[in-house]
Amino acid sequence: MKILHICSEVAPFSKTGGLADVMSGLPKAQAQQEGMFPIIVTPKYADIDPSQYKFETKPMQRKIWLGNAFEIVSFFVGSIKEEETNAHVPVYFASHPVFSERSGIYGPKGGQISYADNVFRYALLCKAALSLLDSIPIDVIHGHDWQGALAIYYASKEKHLSSVARVFTIHNLAFQGLCSLLQAKELGIDSEDLTMDGLEFYGQASLLKAGVIWADKVSTVSPKYSQEIQTVAHGNGLDLLFHKRRGDLVGILNGIDPHVWNPKTDPVLARNYGSADVLQGKAACKAALQKELGLAISPRTALLGTISRLTEQKGIDLLLQLIHSEKIRETEVQFVILGKGESVWEQALLSCAQHHSTKMVCKLGYDEGLAHRIEAGSDMYLMPSLFEPCGLNQMYSQRYGTVPIVHGVGGLFDTVKNYDAVSQTGSGFVFFEHRLDSFLFAFERALRTYQSDPVAFLGIIRRGMNFDFSFMRAAKQYLLLYQEAKKKRETDRKLSATLP
Ligand code: ADP
Ligand code: GLC
Repeated sequence: MKILHICSEVAPFSKTGGLADVMSGLPKAQAQQEGMFPIIVTPKYADIDPSQYKFETKPMQRKIWLGNAFEIVSFFVGSIKEEETNAHVPVYFASHPVFSERSGIYGPKGGQISYADNVFRYALLCKAALSLLDSIPIDVIHGHDWQGALAIYYASKEKHLSSVARVFTIHNLAFQGLCSLLQAKELGIDSEDLTMDGLEFYGQASLLKAGVIWADKVSTVSPKYSQEIQTVAHGNGLDLLFHKRRGDLVGILNGIDPHVWNPKTDPVLARNYGSADVLQGKAACKAALQKELGLAISPRTALLGTISRLTEQKGIDLLLQLIHSEKIRETEVQFVILGKGESVWEQALLSCAQHHSTKMVCKLGYDEGLAHRIEAGSDMYLMPSLFEPCGLNQMYSQRYGTVPIVHGVGGLFDTVKNYDAVSQTGSGFVFFEHRLDSFLFAFERALRTYQSDPVAFLGIIRRGMNFDFSFMRAAKQYLLLYQEAKKKRETDRKLSATLP
């Protein structure tokens, strides 16, 4: 089974969040499955340095018709490798001035403004990806998020691709790739597909809808999120469409890359550790982290970490309310927050850290190494997201023996089992109302267990560390989905051949 992934981020080349981790972890796991051959097409952004990654520059160019003009896209070919098995995944970097002559990914580096022509940029990526299929035969086109959605649509219009199965994965419904209907037309969308049953969305066009409507199978990155998006509360205006497509909609939980996130081998930690020596390992990492952050080096003071894009999604308002609360004023705890994003949250966090300077450190910016050291050195991890399609940090935390405290939505619900003191089960603390009292209640339960019942707390740590969060499980589920998509494609093709 040959799979073409189309996506806007792939670690380590380009990353703003979890999508990048998934787009390297999943294909690597797929490449280790018998009979699965994934390839990836992604943009060659300006910050990706071909010499650093030893790309072979194939003299491969394609002429693409888009927006009433021909565009020339050239491809750099690189790969990502699975260390142990040497399984490797070819990565085709689509190069065009709209990618390679701009800083950042979705907008200028360091800022929060998106490029005005993003819909054009990613439509071009989708067309470029499909243009490769004249020399690379494949079985499945797998588009990710709105940036990969038009590949599904364009493929549906190509007769020679009518037997290629189409799978679309939603990593985050909050971003839909909205543009005017006129812009959508210029991207080659037929007028008849710009109605309510097509891409039209409250007077605009939603490119994400193209993926949902024209894919044979649609998936989300956790089972819970696949149910949530069928509700008004979480459907972002598309709940009825998802409900209509529920027979073809599944949730496949993301995994984590065991080579990148492994406390036994992680090269940036003060000490490596596994489940057997987790207490000693974490104690060393915690002391090193406290020292690095300038916090008091205090082994018994609970240290709580958060690493996040700073957007409304991540529940930063609730986190701020918690830190400012009366309860925290009276409690001996430490917080470290590493984040980057909307300036309203950056400023609020900075001023909160100034107010509580002995308790809280806020690091603004993107720092992969520090993210690993926070996962290892914290006792607990706070993730009060308003919604969370999957979330990776709560899984990294559990792998690193750091107990997550999460809002029970989406992937957080699916991956963190609430601690039950009677049955001694669960690997974290879950709260269900997105309100301070509910969050505080979970926080206090966690803190009490940490302070007064170290045996129970160690049990929680160990259960989390023993979960199987590997991408191999996800890769097997995607294989089944591809097989179903292929079957559906075949049936639909036969059906449309009989139509006049
Ligand atoms: P999302 O994709 O919605 O941002 P996820 O939990 O799926 O959330 O993934 C976030 C990923 O981005 C994790 O790998 C996390 O460690 C990383 N990350 C987020 N913010 C930062 C940051 N400021 N510095 C380093 N890594 C970050
Ligand atoms: C999105 C979601 C996040 C998910 C990630 C990878 O960015 O916000 O929940 O883990 O994609 O699928």
